[in-house]
Amino acid sequence: MSDPNAPTKPLGPLVDLDEWETAFEPAGHSGEPASAKTTFRDYRKNVRPGVREFYRLNHTHQTLDFVLAKKREYLPRKKRVMTVWEAMEFLNTLIDDSDPDTDLSQIEHLMQTAEAIRRAGHPRWFIVTGLIHDLGKVLCLFGEPQWAVVGDTFPVGCRYSDKIVFAEFFEANPDSSVPAYQTACGIYSEACGLGNVHLSWGHDEYLYHVVKDRLPEEALAMIRYHSFYAAHREGEYTHLMTGRDKALLEWVRKFNSFDLYSKGEDRPDVAALTPYYKDLVTEFFPQPLAW
Ligand SMILES: [Fe+2]
Ligand SMILES: [Fe+2]
Repeated sequence: MSDPNAPTKPLGPLVDLDEWETAFEPAGHSGEPASAKTTFRDYRKNVRPGVREFYRLNHTHQTLDFVLAKKREYLPRKKRVMTVWEAMEFLNTLIDDSDPDTDLSQIEHLMQTAEAIRRAGHPRWFIVTGLIHDLGKVLCLFGEPQWAVVGDTFPVGCRYSDKIVFAEFFEANPDSSVPAYQTACGIYSEACGLGNVHLSWGHDEYLYHVVKDRLPEEALAMIRYHSFYAAHREGEYTHLMTGRDKALLEWVRKFNSFDLYSKGEDRPDVAALTPYYKDLVTEFFPQPLAW
């Protein structure tokens, strides 16, 4: 029997779970928001083969059926009962091939994001959203491969936007040969609302369901759509959105400017910050949550 408390390595080609995010930053890990849109599209030049392979797997296997099966598996939330703080510690048992001297741990990334939001003077619900936004990555610890946990998310059951990174890999997705899934609206209807659209399965959608009764709607949009770059960065899929979705995406954009991966001096002092963040977590999540 394997030890259930032993550190787990995520299954997949990425060196670390955040490599898909940092790989496309024009200035590497600077943490600056991507300034030049044109640079963002030039990702193919320097991208590591592992990131490319990650997207090949993601785009090949994220079908509508796969997403529906994962929802049936995870949305009953019967895997574990954990407080938010326990989930943070659990997530940190994930070990990857990144360099611990230069790359941030999961808790460091969460605190760095939350600290940037706090420094900007935003309310406590916004700060706690920054602190928890990636906790859905515990999916890796439940045995999910990287391509079913991280990466840009996109709607399934309708046509793929060509603005999605490595969109050419969708050719290998079985849904590409289902005509009903390849019209602009696919199985959905115009302006049906993003809440009715199935996005590719990953940490965003999962965490949204875990915390959806505990945070304001703006916070829930940030959690649910922060990897939906085709929408919040590229302006795609507006035909499926309501006016409210469009307004909420502005909050997602605001959030994304704080979702940083900077190193060095900006590295948060986890021990010093822990008391503040334990209080904050208790304020919003006094009880353990079903995961
Ligand atoms: Fe994320
Ligand atoms: Fe993040």
